[in-house]
Formats: sequence, structure tokens, C-alpha cells
Amino acid sequence: MNSNKIREVFLEFFKSKQHEIVSSAPMVVKNDPTLMFTNAGMNQFKDMFLGNTPIINKRVADSQKCLRVSGKHNDLDEVGHDTYHHTMFEMLGNWSFGDYFKKEAIEWAWELIVDVYGMDKSRIYVSVFEGSDSDGVPFDQEAYDLWKSFLPESHIIKGNKKDNFWEMGETGPCGSCSELHFDLRDDSERAVIDGASLVNMDNPQVIEVWNLVFMQFNRKANGSLEPLPSKHVDTGMGFERLCMALQGKKSNYDTDVFQPIICRIAELSSVKYGEDIKRDIAMRVIADHIRAIAFSIADGQIPSNVKAGYVIRRILRRAVRYGYTYLNFKTPFMYKLVDTLAAQLGAQFPELIASQQLITKVIEEEENSFLRTLATGINLLEGVMSKTKDAGGKVISGEDAFVLYDTYGFPIDLTELIARENDMSVDIEQFEKELAEQKNRSRNAAAVETGDWIEVVAISSSEYVGYDLLETDIRIARYREVASKGKKLYQLVFDKTPFYGNSGGQVGDKGYISSANEKIEITDTQKENNLTVHITSTLPTNLGGSFRAVVNSVEHTASSNNHTATHLLHEALREVLGNHVEQKGSLVQPSGLRFDFSHFNKVTHEELQEVERIVNSKIRANSVLIENRNCPIEEARETGAMMLFGEKYGSSVRTIRFGESIELCGGCHAASTGQIGLFRIVSEGAISAGIRRIEAVSGSEAIELMQEQANVVFELGKIFSAPSVVGEVVKLKDKNSELSKKIEEYATLERKAIKDKIVASMEQKDGIYWYVDTLTLSADAIKDIALGVKNEKSPAIFVAGTTAGDKPALVVMLSDDLVKDKGLNASNIVREAAKLMQGGGGGQPTLATAGGKLIDKLDDAISTAVSLITSKL
Ligand code: SER
Repeated sequence: MNSNKIREVFLEFFKSKQHEIVSSAPMVVKNDPTLMFTNAGMNQFKDMFLGNTPIINKRVADSQKCLRVSGKHNDLDEVGHDTYHHTMFEMLGNWSFGDYFKKEAIEWAWELIVDVYGMDKSRIYVSVFEGSDSDGVPFDQEAYDLWKSFLPESHIIKGNKKDNFWEMGETGPCGSCSELHFDLRDDSERAVIDGASLVNMDNPQVIEVWNLVFMQFNRKANGSLEPLPSKHVDTGMGFERLCMALQGKKSNYDTDVFQPIICRIAELSSVKYGEDIKRDIAMRVIADHIRAIAFSIADGQIPSNVKAGYVIRRILRRAVRYGYTYLNFKTPFMYKLVDTLAAQLGAQFPELIASQQLITKVIEEEENSFLRTLATGINLLEGVMSKTKDAGGKVISGEDAFVLYDTYGFPIDLTELIARENDMSVDIEQFEKELAEQKNRSRNAAAVETGDWIEVVAISSSEYVGYDLLETDIRIARYREVASKGKKLYQLVFDKTPFYGNSGGQVGDKGYISSANEKIEITDTQKENNLTVHITSTLPTNLGGSFRAVVNSVEHTASSNNHTATHLLHEALREVLGNHVEQKGSLVQPSGLRFDFSHFNKVTHEELQEVERIVNSKIRANSVLIENRNCPIEEARETGAMMLFGEKYGSSVRTIRFGESIELCGGCHAASTGQIGLFRIVSEGAISAGIRRIEAVSGSEAIELMQEQANVVFELGKIFSAPSVVGEVVKLKDKNSELSKKIEEYATLERKAIKDKIVASMEQKDGIYWYVDTLTLSADAIKDIALGVKNEKSPAIFVAGTTAGDKPALVVMLSDDLVKDKGLNASNIVREAAKLMQGGGGGQPTLATAGGKLIDKLDDAISTAVSLITSKL
């Protein structure tokens, strides 16, 4: 069965069991500060488990793109070295939200694996939770008994908390679980060692494939468990491992999920897979990582230096490093794999095709920049190695290796490899120590302590009413304390709220809540999945009371206008530059907007002006907002509404229309475009390969910008007292270069005159012409003069100091014969003499200059230069 069929059979099976098949949520998480990437199929349903969102469909199944590279679930180090861990993988899952529980979950899992997929029963082992006294959770007898009807007891293993109690993170929904493990070893091996003894023992052939989690608790910040409002099922099956088992392979990389990419890597590197352990690892690392990188970029996450972007950059660099070191890829190669990936997975994940060009460009540029980093690092490492050798050592210090790694991004394994090639080694222990210290520092700086929610009033969901009202009466439903960097804040959830929570690029609202006797400022509003969280530094005294919640309407309106202007800008950019333009990032705030989009060239001044003209004409058209809060997604698609990959859309969406512009959007908008008033672009530039950024302002900010610019012209006009400022500036510039030329001519004449005077005044001592003095000229001018002297006098010595430009400088000229016959070297002499002035320099053996810091040591430096010369005559 090929992998596409395996996926299809899974989804069909659960459809036949009345599950709704949903699409994968984006891999990059947008509205959950506790998570950067989707690391399990259940992430998109977290709010349903916690009771924050009403449950619409009680049975759901899907194939979810997951990435496990940070936080609690992090497999990065194993990836490539073994044959069954991945950064990005597909998780096949089925869910019950307060509907069926252990019985159906176990029976259906068995039916699918054995009856439908035809897996050999004797190769299946299952685990059940042994119980935990500290958590007060007993042995899972129910699951054990259910499995007993399918399997001999010798195939049912009792597992501990680490393996059989699943938790999403430090806090959140959790529960005991039951895993299905497959023993894929050859019969001869199975006859010798019992498969049960190898379960959860890191044997690559006896592996966990499916995890059935019985969610019934919420882990609180203090470590205790509280029962969830209902019991749920959350299952997750490793798609790639399932393919390995069903296709009779010994490695995930031998399945048709990875083989096309492995073959392409083999072709590009001219290295055969399966012949050398290290090269095989490198090929697996690359085959794995290209998926993680390509899918992240498709979801809108561009590699960068912060947060999720940095994780992606590190994954990409890990792959490039393996390619560079073990497959001899010295030029970009990863980007060449994107076509293969898109051809293979594009049908299941159309985002790969839609963003194929962008993904390719971004990866190529990242590779280029990392290869430059590697080249710089190698140079620096060579310096470190010769320094170490000069000091008689063979071990590169941990500090040096750490500086290379931390400051220059040079990977430690490459440092080790190059050291080995030069018969040296690295003090890894010290390096690890430095690394640990640095991690500690940043952990402490970023540490956030989040307390548990304390419920005031029970609610099933908190409605956002801000599309219609900017103030309303509310009650506080729950609150918690958050401490970060020594600051204590409170987060409040209301029963309903007029405050917009930061999402979709639009910043959160500010404002206040007030009761008869107090007024509490809301400094920000954030979204945590579906929860709107209000931030304040003061907790109201009467938490159970009723409050008037009031949004700062001036800032809210400015943000709304900028949000509408963003839609108009998006449309205008597509009109002017083409339909390849797609939103890649957006920030909408009261003071202005920032819009990132895909486009491969600089946007010209004329194009920007055209965009600005179009947006302003749309503003003048005064199109009214046509909002549909409940549009079926299919209908929205048919009307051509702009949808973005990397966004999570439900079956019903909100559409925002202004004239021709239609977008799926949850943000706040102007009632009609005329309300924006004016739109001005402030800047345009690249933020990475293929992604441009426009910053713009609207309304009063735009007027202010225009007036500032007009003022500059007005002031210049006053200075020039002429109508055409541009003409005057050009005239001034021309005149300036004419004058500079004249000054240069006079300077040349002046230098020649000085040189003539010096030549005439030079006196011979022991047959050599000498000139030693200080001059009030620049070092460059003195150098010119010295050259002139050299052309006319020989043998000659010229030593001149200057303090022009507030710093001392020294020039030494020796005629060629003195360099040749006496072994004198002007470069060594100035360097030595300049030490007295705390400076340095160099040049040629016949002419050299040096600068310094201590003006009052110039005379000493001159005397030193003279004595160094004299000592050799
Ligand atoms: N949440 C569980 C896991 O990720 C099952 O889906 O393993």
C-alpha cells in the first residue's frame, strides 16, 4: 500500500465511524503563547478539552502536520541518527470530545490495524498505565481488560508515567494512555528475544506507532491534577512509522514518504544511500529537515533570528552543516529538493505548490548566507589554531570554540572536525560549560511564571462584542497571576468583551474597566487560542462585581482604519505587481501599519507611487464595509476572498469586503474607506529573500508625515530663497565638486612647495640626507611629500610627525638603497615607534605611516624612529 493510500484508508475508516474529517491546522502556531509549533494533533483542539470552546462536532479525525523541535516534545538530536524520529511528521488522529471513551478507542484501533491494514497480530504489543501514587491515578484496569479480549496478556505491558501518561506541556490537558507498539524484527531475531522486553527500549525495530490518550485531567501550575469537565479521546499515530510497518521496511526513510527525496539527494551529491553510516545520517537529516523547513515557510514562518523563525533557521543550518561536512555540498543544495517535495506531497498539502517559488528562494538565500558564515568561521578558526599552536598547545580552548559558535554561528562539530584534521582537539568540556552558562542566562531572562486560572464565574465561552460595541457591562470570569522579569501582572477573562485581543496582525485594545469605586487600566489584550486575555497590573478588589468595560476608542479607531488600509494596500499591490503578491506578515497598530508580502524584486519608486495612488482612490471611493460574520468557507472561496496558507479557518468564516477587496479576516475595520482619510507609504525594503516589507501610515499620522516633509521643502526654500529647491540643490552640488577640485589643485601646489623647501633644506650627515621634524599637515599629505622627497634625494631619511586631526601620526620614508643595503624597514620602525603613542601602523619597507592616541608622546615616537634608524647605519 503506498503512503497516500495508507492515509486515505485511515481517514475513510474514521469517516465510516461518523467522524468529521478536518484539515490539518497550520504547523506554525499563531495564537498560543505557550506553543511555537503544532507538536501534536490535539493542539488545535486544546480549547475544547479545557472547556473554553463549545464542542460542535463530537467526533473528528485528521492528518496533522507536526513539528517536534522545541519545548517538552523535542526529537531534534535523534533525527537522522536513527531511522524513526522526525522533526516534521504527520500524525493521524481520531478524537472524541465527551463522546466515546476507552472501549471504542481501543476496539477501533484494533479493527483498523488488524482487520483493515492487515497487520500481523503477533507483532503487536500494547502498553497500559501502571498508575501513579503521587498523582493519585490508579492502574488502568479498564484498558487492560479491553486489550485482553484481543491480545494474550504477554503482549500487554504496564508502563510508567513517562511512557503512559500523556501531557501536552508543563500544564494543560492530560491523561493516561495506551500505546500500540509493532515488532518489525525478522522472525529469527524474534525467536531469540521476546518482543515484550524491547518495548520502549529504543530498539529501532520495536517501535511505538499509535498512542491512544484518554484525556481526563488538567495539569495545573502547582503540579496537581484537576478533572476536566468531560472525558475525551485523543489518539495520534505516526504516519511515517505506520508506512514503514505496512510497507515491510526497516526504516521510515526506506518508505515512499522519503525515498524520492533521498534519491534526489543521492543524485545531487553523487553519493549512494546505504553505503556509509555517516553519509547515510547526513542524507536522512537533509531528507527530514527539508520537509520541516518547506512546510514552515509555506505556513508563513520565514527563517529569522527570533522565536519560531530562529528554530527554523537552526534546522536549516543543521541540514546544511551535514551536507557540507559529509556530502561535500559547498554550494546551496537544499533549495533544489523543494521541487521533489512539492511533486510528492503537493496533492495532500496544496500550500507546498502555492508557495513553491517562495520556499525555494528563501531556502537558497538562507543557504548562501550560512555558507558565508561558515567561510568566515573557517578563517577565524584558522587564526585560533595558529594562536594555539604558537603557544605550544594542541587543544583549542572551550572559550575560543564558544566565541566561534555563539558570536559567529560556527557549529561546534565543524570546529571539532577541522581541529582533528589539523591534528588538534577542542576542550569540549569547557565549551559545554560556557554553553550551559549562556543558556542559563537566557532562560532566567525569559522566565515567565504563570499561575493557575482562578475561576470567579463559570462560563462556557467568552463572546467578543467589539465589532458592535466599544463599551459594555461585563463580569470577570477568571483571573491568574503572571510574573516575568520581576514584574507581576494579572490576566483577566471576562464573560464577554469589547476588547480586541491581539491577533491577525492587529494589536490588542487598551482601555479600562470600572465599577462604582474603582477604575482598573487594561494595558493590553491578548489571545490565547480562543480565550481573550486582558492584562492589568492591578487586580480589582471586588472580583465578583459588575464592571463597565471601556475600550480606548481613539486608538481602536486608528487601528481599525489601518487594518482597512492594509486590505486596500494588499489589493493595490496585487494590481500593480501581480497576483503572486501574498500577505506574509502584518502588523496593524494605531500609529501605522506594516505589511510583508511575497515579491522578488525591489518595488520601484514609480510602482510605490502607483500603489499609493490606488489606495487613496479607493479611500475616496468611500466603499462601505460589507461584513459577513457567518459565511460558509466554500461560499467565501467562490467569491474569491483572499485566504492565506498558514491560517486556521473553520467551516464558517468572517468575510470583509470593501469594493473589490474581499478578505477572510477577524479584525476590526473602518465603517467605510473614506474614514481612513489619507494613506502614505513610509518605506519599502526586503526582510528576506523574496519577502518585501512596506510601512505606511494613514489618517492624522499620514497628514503629520506629509506636513513634516512639506516643512523640509519649505525651510529649504527659505534658505535658497528660490522657487525650485531641487534646481538649487543640484546647482549647489555642482558648485561644491568644482570647489573641491580647486582645493585639491591648490593643495597639490602647496605640498609641492613644501616638498621643494624640504628638499632644499636637507643636509647630509655621513653621506645621507636627513629630514626630521613635525608638520601641521595631514598624514596623507605628509606621505605625498615623503614620496616627492624620495624621488629627488638619495640616500635619504625622512621622519615627520603630525598632530593634525587631534591624533598623532608618524611618517617614515627611507630611500631604496638604505632598505637594500642596511636592512632597514620603515614599516617595522613606525610600528615600534608608534607603540609609545599607544598606536600602530605599517606600510612598505620604504614608506610607512602610523597613528596613535597620545599626542604628547609624538616627539618620543619621532626620537625612537630616529634612533632605530641610526642604530642600523
Ligand atoms: N496527543 C498524543 C500524542 O501526541 C496522541 O495524539 O502522542
